[in-house]
Amino acid sequence: MNTCSSKHLVLVGMMGAGKSSVGRMLARKLDRPLLDSDELIEQRTGRTVREIWASDGEAAFRALETETLIDALESDEPSVVAAAGGVVLSEANRAALAASDAHVVWLLADVELLVERVKNGMHRPLLDEDPEGTLRAMHDDREALYQEVADAIVSVDHRSVHDVTQAVLRCAG
Ligand code: S3P
Repeated sequence: MNTCSSKHLVLVGMMGAGKSSVGRMLARKLDRPLLDSDELIEQRTGRTVREIWASDGEAAFRALETETLIDALESDEPSVVAAAGGVVLSEANRAALAASDAHVVWLLADVELLVERVKNGMHRPLLDEDPEGTLRAMHDDREALYQEVADAIVSVDHRSVHDVTQAVLRCAG
């Protein structure tokens, strides 16, 4: 399989769209490392996303998110990158994605599905109150931004992780 042999494959999308689980399967199939933004932030700082958010605030967390994205894009080894959901909020991040030769795939999901999936998301302090309303507002705010960075869009509704992975491989090949 010659799927983007020289490029990073970057998954973007909302919380609960399946970036981490699809990323894991893609990494296995492509025999590439998986660079999962939230995990890398937790490894680097020795703190959970929730702890960083609570003690340092959102701006500090977003700065770590940017650092992690840039490092991932600059890494020499072609990788699968599961970007954090908020990565598209920053213009600098969007520019970094556009300037890189990464192939960016937006995992698009209905808000109903996201609500169902994020029920036990410990690393998602933004969803502590009114998860459904928050996800809807976020989706509306971010839709155009995901669209802006995406080279391809894969719908995840009514699809297993395996099927989504296959669809990403098809459209990234
Ligand atoms: C966020 C998404 C989360 C995590 C943090 C903020 C967002 O990551 O980084 O809670 O703003 O969309 P996942 O997209 O991996 O859930």
